[in-house]
Amino acid sequence: MLSFFKVKKNNENNDENDKIEIDMNNIPKHIAIIMDGNGRWARERNLPRTMGHKAGVEAIREIVKEASTLGVKYLTLYAFSTENWKRPSDEVGALMNLLVQYLKKEFKELNNNNVIIKHIGDISKLPSACQKELIDAYNNTKNNTGLTLNLALNYGGRNEIVRAFNLIYEDIKSHKLSEECIDETVISKYMYTSNMPDPDLIIRPSGEQRLSNFLLWQCAYSEFWYSNIKWPDFGKKDLHKAIYDYQNRDRRFGGVK
Ligand code: IPE
Ligand code: IPE
Ligand code: MG
Repeated sequence: MLSFFKVKKNNENNDENDKIEIDMNNIPKHIAIIMDGNGRWARERNLPRTMGHKAGVEAIREIVKEASTLGVKYLTLYAFSTENWKRPSDEVGALMNLLVQYLKKEFKELNNNNVIIKHIGDISKLPSACQKELIDAYNNTKNNTGLTLNLALNYGGRNEIVRAFNLIYEDIKSHKLSEECIDETVISKYMYTSNMPDPDLIIRPSGEQRLSNFLLWQCAYSEFWYSNIKWPDFGKKDLHKAIYDYQNRDRRFGGVK
């Protein structure tokens, strides 16, 4: 089945609409997004950075809804990295408050839309109000069967790998795991994303072309898609464009076609 969307070109001086054809039989199972550019979005408008984060949280709604409509099974959103603690404490505090507000405000609709609200990362370092919202949101949605919304919070790819090594070491010591069994499948099970497919598509808006410690283990064969749009302006048409481009890539996984 093919679905047609009208997508506006991002090039300046060009208001023409492109016709984008999305193949509904080839929707990426797992999309991961580095939600970047909130600060620059605010600066362009002479607003404080926290207003950019507020606008960034608002952009989440449309993307989650659209991903769910398109039949994406997993959507991982990078919301706070292990390195983001380096930011001024008022910015960190504002981000944490926005997270709690987001979960409180959106819970009902997400739950009605059959979304499972999960998190990845070391949430034990988050303020207790955030931890509570995240745990409650998961417990109240874990039996849903639709999109899994994975919020990456205090997440770092290297931190996740170190954690996995430690967990494996503990399980070997307590004879739950034999060292001869360690292979890629076993290591994947010790990641936060255990039982989820690796991301097919990683999207980074805002013009930066780097991973910033996101899903280092899981992105071995992910397709990357970059755009200059700042996250608060990222809408469903941009998601369509990313999926369309993804569908026109030749994924060889090291083989030949
Ligand atoms: C992304 O936007 C949000 C977080 C990292 C929490 P930024 O705050 O990094 O925005 P820029 O990159 O400074 O524009
Ligand atoms: C990556 O963005 C982290 C999130 C979007 C949560 P950053 O803005 O922190 O990354 P750098 O500093 O540009 O690499
Ligand atoms: Mg940034």
